[in-house]
Amino acid sequence: MSAIESVLVENRVFPPPEAAVKGARISGMKAYEALCAEAGQDFEGFWARLARENLAWTKPFTRTLDESNAPFYKWFADGELNASANCLDKHLGTPVENKDAIVFEADDGAVTRITYKQLLARVSQFANALKAQGVNKGDRVIIYMPMTIEGVVAMQACARIGATHSVVFGGFSAKALHERIIDAGAVAVVTANYQMRGGKELPLKAIVDEAIAMGGCNTLKQVLVYMRTATACNMVAGRDQTFDEALEGQSTECVPVPVNAEHPLFILYTSGSTGKPKGVQHSTAGYLLWAKVTMDWTFDIKPSDVFWCTADIGWVTGHSYVAYGPLAAGCTQVVFEGVPTYPNAGRFWDMIQKHKVTVFYTAPTAIRSLIKAAEGDEKVHPARYDLSSLRILGSVGEPINPEAWMWYHKHVGGERCPIVDTFWQTETGGHMITPLPGATPLVPGSCTLPLPGIMAAIVDEVGKDVPNGSGGMLVVKRPWPSMIRNIWGDPERYKKSYFPEEMGGTYYLAGDGAVRSEDRGYFRITGRIDDVLNVSGHRLGTMEIESALVSMTELVAEAAVVGRPDDMTGEAVCAFVVLKRSRPTGEEAQKIATQLRNWVAKEIGPIAKPKDIRFGDNLPKTRSGKIMRRLLRSIARGEAITQDTSTLENPAILEQLAEKL
Ligand code: WT7
Repeated sequence: MSAIESVLVENRVFPPPEAAVKGARISGMKAYEALCAEAGQDFEGFWARLARENLAWTKPFTRTLDESNAPFYKWFADGELNASANCLDKHLGTPVENKDAIVFEADDGAVTRITYKQLLARVSQFANALKAQGVNKGDRVIIYMPMTIEGVVAMQACARIGATHSVVFGGFSAKALHERIIDAGAVAVVTANYQMRGGKELPLKAIVDEAIAMGGCNTLKQVLVYMRTATACNMVAGRDQTFDEALEGQSTECVPVPVNAEHPLFILYTSGSTGKPKGVQHSTAGYLLWAKVTMDWTFDIKPSDVFWCTADIGWVTGHSYVAYGPLAAGCTQVVFEGVPTYPNAGRFWDMIQKHKVTVFYTAPTAIRSLIKAAEGDEKVHPARYDLSSLRILGSVGEPINPEAWMWYHKHVGGERCPIVDTFWQTETGGHMITPLPGATPLVPGSCTLPLPGIMAAIVDEVGKDVPNGSGGMLVVKRPWPSMIRNIWGDPERYKKSYFPEEMGGTYYLAGDGAVRSEDRGYFRITGRIDDVLNVSGHRLGTMEIESALVSMTELVAEAAVVGRPDDMTGEAVCAFVVLKRSRPTGEEAQKIATQLRNWVAKEIGPIAKPKDIRFGDNLPKTRSGKIMRRLLRSIARGEAITQDTSTLENPAILEQLAEKL
């Protein structure tokens, strides 16, 4: 990598290629600016226009934004619609109905296609099965499924009958699943017997059983099991049914239930700065509107596109850009069951070539690992594949480092595809700050400018704008339709987490630090300002990992978790642990570290496993007993300690904690 590619101040600029500007839905910066001006001049009118143009309403709304109970905003509040009807039924009688909605590629490479019309029938039948199981409008359904057509069907079927789904990522543990079943008060769990990943058959249903066996799932009545593989799984009579059993005799027609615009479409749990995950509650109309509009704007989606978002439905990206957005936009999308490195690290490139993908959306962490693989093995280098179908590339989940950006641009995009570096969050429902492929000049590592209607800014602690070039906190000054509506069952936490009083109580605080460039005013995200880590694009709360560690009560006395930069995963988890026994060293320390890692994997999921574990006799604390996290962060990074350590009771522990296993 040449030095110029690693400098901190990025001044390479890539104007959008003419081919991308021509015919784009937002073509050229003037068109972008005109939309921003429209939103600036008539904020509600702008959103009302989009909501009328992009959604099919069973009862039109008359009121756009209700701020009377801020920050509990309501959008289009007297309107009614159905999300599934807006993704499926609306294409009936159009040329879309007979085209592939989903091209599914299984872990082993087997391909299954389903047209829009067939998908509608499948969703309707599943919706009828849910109804027959007693699932009603407003009930919560947990979906713990692999990446499959059936996973999308389950989500759409819930939406069709007005049930609120909560998808739990298939990599989460029984404990995490248990917590979510209870918090959501779920009446049903939709799962699969097993999932296939990288040639391995991994249990899902057994984990559901384990979660339910932990007790307290009092609202839960049904478990529906998709038989993904031929291997039998435990079935509890009277509670569990296979998909085949549940679908038997059910009609493939189901009238979509109109719901209020504000009806909770889904709850998705994500990590915050305290131990307990937050149930991010999203609306129906506002959420779906933005999923659809961002497909059009950010990805410039056309009817001829083959869209592929590699995210799992267990994350918000898999909600907005797999389960809802692409269907609302009426394009063909690829859904992939497996992992990018199986059977080899050329899998993504092979699939792009095979399915003639035109718009490809993935995470920097995947790109970085594929760069490494391609550099080590020419056979999996993108140059070996025909990627000429691609016209737009996307990045999501974490900042993309300029080195990875350049490689993605050159080797995957053939220097002709704009890269949209989309900044957003579980809470924002859809893209917030992102380039537009047919308008925005690109700067590697920058998510550039807010979408029209998104009033993003960078401010200080009291909400005052900071000048370009100065770092501050990223906020959104006005509500937007797809924003989080509440933390499920905890309105106080919603207010406290996102709408700081010191800023006036109505600015949405993203939790990220950011800076705008002096020349263009482009946004660059500098990382979380709270105790949240981003490991491989997955959000993890340091407190969650700490509670998992200290819940090993026989062994662990105290634990502190911080992040440190990592070349591959963006950030890595670093845990400082005090044991109840004497401080271990050498081989014994290794053994205990493995034990701790496995415990965290069991408590939360393998993604939360600490990469580094350091043992100390105690932790550095202030006089008032607060753990000095800044100091731990420096130690984790291997930096020289510049902080004042004079208050430390036992300065010798700094040396202990700096010691790598
Ligand atoms: C956090 C949100 C967005 C869906 C997937 C992650 C980080 C996300 C970017 C980006 C820099 C990014 C932020 C944000 N993040 N996209 N393009 N550039 N940082 O959703 O799990 O809710 O995580 O991911 O830190 O706050 P999430």
